[in-house]
Amino acid sequence: MRNIILIGFMGVGKGSVAREVVKNSDYIAIDTDDLIESMENKSIKKVFADDGEEYFRALEYKLSKWLESSVQNTLISTGGGFYKQKNLKEIGIVVFLNSPFDKILKRIKAHPNSASKLKKRPLLADMKKAKELYNERLPEYLALADVVIDVTNKSAMDCSKEILKKVKKYA
Ligand code: S3P
Repeated sequence: MRNIILIGFMGVGKGSVAREVVKNSDYIAIDTDDLIESMENKSIKKVFADDGEEYFRALEYKLSKWLESSVQNTLISTGGGFYKQKNLKEIGIVVFLNSPFDKILKRIKAHPNSASKLKKRPLLADMKKAKELYNERLPEYLALADVVIDVTNKSAMDCSKEILKKVKKYA
């Protein structure tokens, strides 16, 4: 099994989809934000606040090197900006979870913990900037992806099944 690396904008549902893939396969899942929080022993929000975005991106870089050299047979979900790492394709099969910006926002707002979901993501603090970031990233996500999954109005379970079917081609 090659690694699957899940990329996509904040709030698109990478974590939920990863949990379903794990249920429906032999993959073990890890998440780059969770790993950074463990490495730093603080929340992503606090890393941004205390040390700044540049420091956070340097941690993502360090992680990208470790993932490439040391991780196998794993489903890796990533923070929304992790796709900027140059070795994504060396890490695994790149799966992009795609949905329009307004649908992503709707999804976050529909969550029972929506306030904390928004609060923990510093780059969603300003919606105008978030939308600009989305527009800037969308073509880059699409260009990088081996597999694109449109997640709009689909359950995490259906998305996970679609992923497992489509990655077979790359295994
Ligand atoms: C970021 C996305 C976040 C987290 C950090 C930066 C980004 O992860 O890594 O706040 O640059 O898009 P999620 O995509 O899981 O929200």
